[in-house]
Amino acid sequence: MCGIIGYIGDKQAQPILLNCLRRLEYRGYDSCGIAVTAGSIEVYKDAVRVEELTRVMPKLDGMAGIGHTRWATHGEPSQVNAHPHLDCSGNIAVVHNGVISNFQLLKQQLTGEGHNFISQTDTEVIPHLIEKYYDGNLEKAVETALRDIEGSYALIVLMAGEPKLVAARKDSPLIIGIGDRENIIASDVPAILDYTDRVIYLEDGDIGIITKDGIRVRRHGTKVNRKEHKISWSVDDAQKAGYEHFMLKEIHEQPKVIRDTLGEYIQAAEPVVDLAVMRGDIESVLILACGTSYHAALVGKYIMEELLRIPVRAELASEFNYCAQTLARTGAIAITQSGETADMLKAMKKLKDMGCLVLAITNVVGSSASRIANQTIYTRAGPEISVAATKSFMAQLMVLYWLMMSYSKVDARRLTDLIMGLRQLPEKVQQVLDNEDKIMEGTKHLSGYENVFFIGRGINFPIALEGALKLKEISYIHAEGCAAGELKHGPFALLSENTPVIAIVAQDNTYEAMLTNIREVKARGSPLIALAEEGDGAIGQLADSVITVPKVDAIFSPVVNTVALQLLAYYTAKHRGCPIDTPRNLAKSVTVE
Ligand code: AGP
Repeated sequence: MCGIIGYIGDKQAQPILLNCLRRLEYRGYDSCGIAVTAGSIEVYKDAVRVEELTRVMPKLDGMAGIGHTRWATHGEPSQVNAHPHLDCSGNIAVVHNGVISNFQLLKQQLTGEGHNFISQTDTEVIPHLIEKYYDGNLEKAVETALRDIEGSYALIVLMAGEPKLVAARKDSPLIIGIGDRENIIASDVPAILDYTDRVIYLEDGDIGIITKDGIRVRRHGTKVNRKEHKISWSVDDAQKAGYEHFMLKEIHEQPKVIRDTLGEYIQAAEPVVDLAVMRGDIESVLILACGTSYHAALVGKYIMEELLRIPVRAELASEFNYCAQTLARTGAIAITQSGETADMLKAMKKLKDMGCLVLAITNVVGSSASRIANQTIYTRAGPEISVAATKSFMAQLMVLYWLMMSYSKVDARRLTDLIMGLRQLPEKVQQVLDNEDKIMEGTKHLSGYENVFFIGRGINFPIALEGALKLKEISYIHAEGCAAGELKHGPFALLSENTPVIAIVAQDNTYEAMLTNIREVKARGSPLIALAEEGDGAIGQLADSVITVPKVDAIFSPVVNTVALQLLAYYTAKHRGCPIDTPRNLAKSVTVE
């Protein structure tokens, strides 16, 4: 997954491109580069972060240019594999986000026609294809070249001497920021917020022809109009707002995210969408997702089974793509923050091919997932810059809670209690955040360990998995989430005084069994931190330390436990001096399988 940018206007392109690229680094950051033109094309790129490139780069003149920040898919991170890529003449430069699945064949054909390639990337075939078809009309050459290409792309083309940029999108996001005598093309909103809040979302199959004075969009050879949207996200939304890391800012945004996401739905007199997947003709529900979103799917399974009394399966999208199961009378839900996760999109297309109605729950308007799904519910988490998902996970839970309550089969009194409980969640989460210093102090010692276990039962088993994922992906400690009942079936062999255990203890039907697990863990000498509800008198005698969370209805316990574990992971990683927002080897959205 990469970030691409294009600028055309009355100002020098170089500083604008570099500033926009800095905002896109969460999409990939193993290499970057820009190309500008003031007659001929000048390119500067390397396998460095944008800040380093800015420091060493000479001044490049030109009021039109393109830029790219990369997450390697074909070819290791290197200067030669960094984008932009050029054609033979050096007059056509291209930046690209996506995967060209037939690039080897295209490369062979073009090499046979005399084209020379210097990189290992799939992208490099694009400028050569455009050069092959160019006969004086750039957009036509791009349109023709794209017919040869299979796979996904968001790309921007710059040509020496041409006072325009050409952009195209298929299965990868691309937007156009509208300015005054300038326009900016970008992979995502945060890149353009310093310059404009007016934006057009390109659709799959669109080709944009962008000059400083105007934007034309073509699709299958005919002109189309794309609505202009106003972005409510201020620049601050994509800034750190005074926090040291985006992750901490986004953890603290969660009370607002809960209000924003619920606000949109809890006022609705009718259920949030006409959920065909929930109508009587459906016998079961399948929820698919990856990573943290999969943990939301698992929580969704527990909520849905309790409130709707129908069988629910939560499965990994990447694994679903290998299953041969039939899905008669099954409703499908796809949960994906970015809406661009390749494993998820592939699974969604497979579900559609199997005749399933697919509901997407995603955080990105205009994302690929929202275009594949039959219906989409948007979470309102705002831009999530940190690679570790936090507030987007919270927003996903809110959609699932409200969705299930809209269709629940519980009695009116229980439903009233649930709605009351839901409305109180922003302040309950704020109470956890207000306890941040205690959590920070209570977990300082964790940073010295190399292996940690998280255990939970029932609706908090997915939260044990999520707590482990958060810790491992930002602190690089090997953390394992485990169903507490499974400890005796093998993981006990790993427990010693060097393996701390974090136990999630909720006041529900798992309470006594969790106390038993805590005793068993202590008997093996492992340090034990318990997450327990305020007022729990027994836990203090058993655990080495306790992180208290506010009392909530058991069905909402994942909400407060998650926030405590996010803070635990954050401060442990901070104690270890980890980069936190951009962990090694990871990117914010995994658009390759
Ligand atoms: C979560 O902290 C990770 N960054 C990762 O597991 C992520 O949740 C996963 O890649 C799914 O992303 P999506 O929700 O955008 O599909």
